[in-house]
Amino acid sequence: MEKHWWQTTTVYQIYPRSFQDSNGDGIGDLPGIISRLDYLQELGIGTIWLSPVYQSPNDDNGYDISDYENIMAEFGTMADMERLIAEAKARDIRIVMDLVVNHTSDEHAWFMDALANPNSDKRDYYVWADPVDGHEPNELKSSFSGSAWQFDAASGQYYLHLFSKKQPDLNWENPQLRQAVYEMMNFWIDKGIGGFRMDVIDLIGKQPLENTTVNGPKLHDYLQEMNQATFGDKDLLTVGEAWSANPEIAKLYSNPTRHELSMVFQFETMLLDQDPNGEKWDLRPLSIPALKAVFVKWQTQLGDEGWNSLFWENHDLPRVVSRFGDDGALRVESAKMFAIVLHMMKGTPYIYEGEEIGMTNRPVTSIDEVEDIESRNMYQERLAAGYKEADILASINAKGRDNARTPMQWDDTPHAGFTTGTPWLGVNPNYKTINVAAALADKQSIFWTYQQLVAMRKTNPIMVWGTFENIDQVPDQVFAYTRTYAGKRWLVVANFAETATTVKLPDFADSSVIIQNYPDLALNLSDQALRPYEAFVVEVAPTE
Ligand code: NOJ
Repeated sequence: MEKHWWQTTTVYQIYPRSFQDSNGDGIGDLPGIISRLDYLQELGIGTIWLSPVYQSPNDDNGYDISDYENIMAEFGTMADMERLIAEAKARDIRIVMDLVVNHTSDEHAWFMDALANPNSDKRDYYVWADPVDGHEPNELKSSFSGSAWQFDAASGQYYLHLFSKKQPDLNWENPQLRQAVYEMMNFWIDKGIGGFRMDVIDLIGKQPLENTTVNGPKLHDYLQEMNQATFGDKDLLTVGEAWSANPEIAKLYSNPTRHELSMVFQFETMLLDQDPNGEKWDLRPLSIPALKAVFVKWQTQLGDEGWNSLFWENHDLPRVVSRFGDDGALRVESAKMFAIVLHMMKGTPYIYEGEEIGMTNRPVTSIDEVEDIESRNMYQERLAAGYKEADILASINAKGRDNARTPMQWDDTPHAGFTTGTPWLGVNPNYKTINVAAALADKQSIFWTYQQLVAMRKTNPIMVWGTFENIDQVPDQVFAYTRTYAGKRWLVVANFAETATTVKLPDFADSSVIIQNYPDLALNLSDQALRPYEAFVVEVAPTE
């Protein structure tokens, strides 16, 4: 397999609205991001994935784009964007843009034209269908509650919106629409960006009247066409969001011989604490053996026919310490354990803003404190369906997207140093102790474990290319694996539980420590005691 920079980089995701405000309006912005590039350089990352910064009415915080070639006024100007690309480049950091082309905003000029003039060539850029028996064309549901069809009284037709009513779906069967998307992508490539993160890309082949949304028949034809028309002859990072992917499907996207994408985000790990018969709001406890099994499957099945992405968090997911670890007394230990386990696996690691200082979920007691459209719509839908308000709020506190969207905690000054104004979403009250300034000042903080992992990746090809092998003979709560490369072998051992345990790995007895999350590790692999959430990596003798 040919080697690429995007396999060796570490990516840091910025949710611009919540990262750093520079002008006191309570909303993060591009100059704010520029002012924090030195911090990101200290962390050592090589790539930023920037959630959408394009012009948008913000029904879904920028994932509803009304102009792909302009910057959202609250975030700054195109000149700021160009400065960000240049300033990042000066620090060896590439900018990966979010590409949201399953849908636009209903305020995009294309949709406004389509709505106002049913005879316009833009009408077919979207998905329209006639009523059936005076009702919606079928039962398709929006991810943000309710029907996926919205009636347009003027034309007597419905349009499709797999997300909010203000996010009409684009019709990828229309070749002009596809060309317009490719031209827009080339506009950004010409600005010197490092690639694209492709929003819900598994939906673009949809055939809604056949009830097909994900993995439609022409999905991969479109991606091959896109690759040829845009980034195919450039070495860019392209990562597709693919909730529906399993390893076989992931190979269709990322097998280099197919000329589609670099990699996909898969979410099998993220579905494990969800009731399989329910929605994301219907919870069940995480099974650690199930989590290990998913990781092992992905680590071993892609082979040379694909490349993994590795992540615990993003702007749609809860904070990992609150979700799978301990956000109280063992927050530091559990956060470092998650970091070590993830960054030691094979694939490109992603860090979501604030993860590197162990930011936690922010609980709410009323829907008035919630901004996210998905949570708000679900609240109304479930209230109407007779759910108890307390249960709905419990689901929002566990899974709601605002958990990850509270402002970045920079220091212990008012609003955590995020803004001098009123933040658009309340700062987590724990910012007085959990913040960047405190983390930088404490050499035992979570930040320095991340910093160490990111730095190690640059000088240890074993972390990037090493063969992964799972170790079975360990207790259920322990995940242990080796990586092997060029005569070297590393052993990773992690206790995923809040209870102590022991592992017996006499074959690895002769070893030396590479990284650990408890400062006073006493190594005895023949009979190794593991404290709550303890994790370490040791160099061991390679097999013959
Ligand atoms: C996935 C994005 O990550 C999410 O934030 C957004 O709401 C939907 N796609 C719709 O664009």
